[in-house]
Amino acid sequence: MDFLSSSAAAVVLLAFYLSLCNGGKTSIYVRKVEKTVDMPLHSDVFRVPSGYNAPQQVHITQGDHVGKAVIVSWVTEDEPGSSTVLYWSENSKQKKKAEGKVTTYKFYNYTSGYIHHCTIRNLEYNTKYYYAVGVGHTTRKFWFTTPPEVGPDVPYTFGLMGDLGQSFDSNSTLTHYEQNPLKGQTVLFLGDLTYADRYPNHDNVRWDTWGRFVERSVAYQPWIWTAGNHEIDFAPELGETKPFKTYAHRYHVPYQASKSSAPFWYSIKRASAYIIVLSSYSAYGKYTPQYQWLEEELPKVNRSETPWLIVLMHCPWYNSYNYHYMEGETMRVMYEPWFVQYKVDVVFAGHVHAYERSERVSNIAYNVVNGICTPVKDPSAPVYITIGDGGNLEGLATNMTEPQPAYSAYREASFGHAIFDIKNRTHAYYSWHRNHDGFAVEADSMWFFNRFWHPVDESPSSH
Ligand SMILES: [Fe+2]
Repeated sequence: MDFLSSSAAAVVLLAFYLSLCNGGKTSIYVRKVEKTVDMPLHSDVFRVPSGYNAPQQVHITQGDHVGKAVIVSWVTEDEPGSSTVLYWSENSKQKKKAEGKVTTYKFYNYTSGYIHHCTIRNLEYNTKYYYAVGVGHTTRKFWFTTPPEVGPDVPYTFGLMGDLGQSFDSNSTLTHYEQNPLKGQTVLFLGDLTYADRYPNHDNVRWDTWGRFVERSVAYQPWIWTAGNHEIDFAPELGETKPFKTYAHRYHVPYQASKSSAPFWYSIKRASAYIIVLSSYSAYGKYTPQYQWLEEELPKVNRSETPWLIVLMHCPWYNSYNYHYMEGETMRVMYEPWFVQYKVDVVFAGHVHAYERSERVSNIAYNVVNGICTPVKDPSAPVYITIGDGGNLEGLATNMTEPQPAYSAYREASFGHAIFDIKNRTHAYYSWHRNHDGFAVEADSMWFFNRFWHPVDESPSSH
């Protein structure tokens, strides 16, 4: 009897323990196991555009703090050619001209093509523009639409991708994003672009192929760049000791417009969102440039102008996979109290090649003396979303910590992308889409309630 009753008590205790420790949902969806391999160099997505000195790898990003400027970048291979961009609005046939600059770089035994960056300024909000590059030789034409004027109730739709790479799965992710009926207007990219550093000598030819691969999206809508660990390219064995050399030559961002001193951390306003980009791989401790910048930056956010405060970084702070476990911990310790104080709505990260969404939790009570180090529900805390599942050649992170911690609301090891669809100052609809479903299927979704204007508990709305 004693044995039986103590066993029963143990079962009850175990059930109680599990009910305390178990978090949200670990998806039962099991992805078909297949190798993730890069697309070969002769793939059609890497095709070089025809014509002498034809511009290739065309990409755009926001070019100022408010969305009235665009940085246009492209590469020419035969000769420098022109760094001019011709542009005209849909309603006006009068062509304007902006002058850019050309640069090159070497990385070990690789010499880049001629990389052009040109900022077009003083654009009208909410306007479709055509633009042409390659003036004088082979000219190629593209278009983009500027965002609406910054304001509190402006709807806007962001796409989210991270750790994309250039595998067959990467192509599937990008196609799913393009085909998503929710129609993202701007991509928030969470770092780790090309994975060229996985090749011998960091073969920078794979930066060129990646630039041609994603052109079909990023020539037509801005991608907002975050630097990941695969952008560091620190290779003293090759004589390459300047971190981010390749990335910084190829991908320009408007960091000076937000008073940042380096292109790896910066901010932009776009429609009703204030977006802060942080660098997991630049110094962030006290007294560092990034720390000082963020300390001065957060009080500048005016939620009456931009209700939605979104932070992008590469390395997640909350991650219950057994990959890159706790790599984000030191930055979390430095900055999490600020995120709670300033009521950040959502933090998007990549790095872990899987998907995870957290509850609104914080873990800021700890100090060395009190030992309080358990994440707790906190209505002022952001939701943390890891979306490093773009589909690169390193494959999926499938191994999770068990049991699922209480702060983890949903996790699944599948490739995919997400959409953050801002409706007004109080509501945004978020959805995550796995590549193995149809274009419109949502594998995870949640209504976000704005932390400044409508800070009530959302948990019943998520599934
Ligand atoms: Fe990474």
